Amino acid sequence: MVGDIFAKCSNPRKDLYLEAVAAGYGPFFKEMASESGPTVVHEGRPVIMLGSNNYLGLTSDPRVKNAAANAVDKYGSGVTGSRLMNGTLPLHRELEETLLDWLGGDDCLVFTTGYAVNLGVLSTLVGPGDEVFLDSSCHASLADGAKMSSGATTFFRHNSVDSLRKRIRTWRQQSDGGALVAVDTVYSMEGDVAPLREIADVCDEYGARLLVDEAHALGVLGPKGAGYAAATSIKADLVMGTFSKSLASCGGFLIGPSSVLDWFRIACRPFLFTASGVPAALGAALASVRIAIEEDWRREAVQARATQLRSGLRDLGFDAGGDPGSPIVPVHIGNELEAALLWKALLDHGVYTNCALAPAVSVKRAMLRTSVMATHTERHIDDALHIFEVARSSLG
Ligand SMILES: Cc1ncc(COP(=O)(O)O)c(C=O)c1O
Repeated sequence: MVGDIFAKCSNPRKDLYLEAVAAGYGPFFKEMASESGPTVVHEGRPVIMLGSNNYLGLTSDPRVKNAAANAVDKYGSGVTGSRLMNGTLPLHRELEETLLDWLGGDDCLVFTTGYAVNLGVLSTLVGPGDEVFLDSSCHASLADGAKMSSGATTFFRHNSVDSLRKRIRTWRQQSDGGALVAVDTVYSMEGDVAPLREIADVCDEYGARLLVDEAHALGVLGPKGAGYAAATSIKADLVMGTFSKSLASCGGFLIGPSSVLDWFRIACRPFLFTASGVPAALGAALASVRIAIEEDWRREAVQARATQLRSGLRDLGFDAGGDPGSPIVPVHIGNELEAALLWKALLDHGVYTNCALAPAVSVKRAMLRTSVMATHTERHIDDALHIFEVARSSLG
């Protein structure tokens, strides 16, 4: 009997998922029939959107939409080639220069997605004899990049500087290879922040380079939204970010020394072997960066709405985690079925949240991930909180 490569695609977890979908409880692939604003149209009616990364509310901003349309007018719908060949536009250079003016640093490279940035950094830098140290809650793109690399990977306990120090010290005693420590600055599910100062100190002590993933911090934290490293005055060796959250578009970037990025230009496979981002995405990202820098009111609104949501959820008796100042407010449930039932009751009553199940979180830590936008009003959040109360009661 020979094995069938497809056999693994039939498994109890998939059966459970399909049963949930058939019963109307499937929390994924929901269609949103409108812009990703503070409310969206789902199945023909408006629902309050608490499940978007559009933190600054820029995806429907006319200036951003015009910039995307102008880029299509000028450069067409796609570039049909990689950045190395025919896929680099003047918009790339303008965007890279604008990001450097905003965030500082030596050199910048725009990638097609943020996921590709993390794959690229780890697979290009971490070679035989090297080690990458990852926070156990790091984004999947960092873990996948580590799998693609030809070096070794060590996970340390989430946000534990002691755990990092122990692991890096043990490794250093036996190795003089290169070390990279990679962390999210704001963790995408729970919205908590990394102890960056202490992590940077450990890197200095053991000669490791530091990569920070600013995906969820850009635009919302730090002076002029320049991110959590800027907020905490940490100078990381490499900074990555994405346009797919506050910057209302799609694509990613890496900032680092020219000596390193010049090598990436010709050796980083996830940069080279994929088509460059479409002109509309570049135009929208560039306009969004400019607005993000200028409009402090958006950051203030995000903070105010997140505080309102977090304290309202706590008043209702939900476990909404700590208070890190990020736009992400977790609602910890624990049991996957209970999380799915609450998610569905909320949607039925008019609030969309993200149902976070394994593997996005560990199996016993199912949660609803909520997040706010600058364009949510106080009223939106009050209404959402009321719906949380009603939805929970409806479950008995
Ligand atoms: C922390 C983090 N890093 C990287 C990424 C990947 O970004 P992109 O959506 O641009 O591929 C994401 C997006 O899910 C993320 O949350």
